Amino acid sequence: MIDVKFKGCKMDKIVIHGGNKLRGEVVISGSKNSALPILFATLLTDESITINNVPSLDDINTTLSFLNFIGKKAVKRGNTVEIYSSENGMYKYIAPYDLVRKMRASILVMGPLLVRLKKVNVSLPGGCAIGARPIDIHLEAFKKLGAEILVEGGYVKTFVKYRLKGTTINLRFPSVGATENVLLTAVLVKGRTIIVNAACEPEIEDLAIVLNKMGAKVTGAGTKNIIIEGVDKLHGFRHEVIPDRIEAATYIIAAAITKGEIVLKEVIPQHLKSINDKLRKSGLYIKESGNKIYVKWIKNLKPQNIKTGVYPGFPTDVQAQWMTLMCLINGKSSVKENVFENRFLHVAELRRFGANISVDGRIVNIKGVEKFSGAPVIVSDLRAGAALVLAGLAACGTTTISRIYHLDRGYEVFEKKLKELGANIRRICD
Ligand code: UD1
Repeated sequence: MIDVKFKGCKMDKIVIHGGNKLRGEVVISGSKNSALPILFATLLTDESITINNVPSLDDINTTLSFLNFIGKKAVKRGNTVEIYSSENGMYKYIAPYDLVRKMRASILVMGPLLVRLKKVNVSLPGGCAIGARPIDIHLEAFKKLGAEILVEGGYVKTFVKYRLKGTTINLRFPSVGATENVLLTAVLVKGRTIIVNAACEPEIEDLAIVLNKMGAKVTGAGTKNIIIEGVDKLHGFRHEVIPDRIEAATYIIAAAITKGEIVLKEVIPQHLKSINDKLRKSGLYIKESGNKIYVKWIKNLKPQNIKTGVYPGFPTDVQAQWMTLMCLINGKSSVKENVFENRFLHVAELRRFGANISVDGRIVNIKGVEKFSGAPVIVSDLRAGAALVLAGLAACGTTTISRIYHLDRGYEVFEKKLKELGANIRRICD
């Protein structure tokens, strides 16, 4: 029996009859990658917290279960999350495999628990299948702050033998997660901590705003050097999460690939600059006004080469969606992936639609084809899944996408929003 619905069982599939031009308005949800570290920041205080614009996603649910497991009371109503401390005010210091394997961002529990409990045992993380994704930069930073580290039985055991002390931490790569983990620790560590070569992503700035609302002293977030003056205690806060720039970019590309015309609402256009600059060069009409972006396909697009990079560079999280668009543009283009070493799992699936792509190490060379034909495909990771949905929207015929649970980690009511824009898309459960 086939049951049609928007959200449901693990083996759900998405079926798309491609060819419809997207038209209309879409409201962009709160940023997943901003909401996650902010949720972990709640471990830094026992006071009550309210967070608005939290997207309804599996990764958010995983984090809320995680917080509840550790000892918080986290409740989500609509897009608002309220978090309280449990009556005994005790926190567990162990993050078990079952919770951590679902989501790499779980390692953000390390900073807050290390600084508050002086010990934390975290199972080595899981997450998307996009490369090795080690956590050495996080661990090096904790060591510099004075923590001891032991890896035993699949767990990283981090503890404070003497005391944590502010210091200068030079990150070998501006890792988003490591920058967040240092922030989540150093705010309560005595003395001044300077993060050199910090990640500059908007999500880091949003986290710093939250930490400062809590009473922390953080300056320089959004630049390569962040300075943190440790304080003794942090407080509750209210906050509204910034819009999801990756979700927004996905809808802009969806409009381009279907030759459509859409308005994105509740966005911060500045956060999408690298993508919109490339799309404008390609020939797409994009107009920004306040917190809206108007997108209209007016002529055949021209191929563009991109290379991914840390913010404000072209985001790796939009690489797969971008590649799908380039596959359908007449001429040659290339994509270089500089952030992750194995983020081309979507290439094999795109070939099933008829894409002409070759992989040469970190570079993908694309020769545009006139059209895609719908195909059965499998999602390997979150953004690869978005790329396959885009391919299905543009393809002639029917596309069936399996393992869409990856999409539920990062796109709030994806099929519903696309359907409202005119796509012929539905979720089935078999
Ligand atoms: C975050 C985002 C993810 C995005 C990525 C890069 C969240 C929840 N996820 O992931 O969507 O794709 O930033 O913009 O915000 N690395 C190491 N050692 C480390 C840490 C990272 O070698 O200790 C490497 C990773 O393997 C990867 C690169 O650095 O190749 C970038 O990782 P990082 O910036 O840490 O990404 P995440 O925080 O995991």
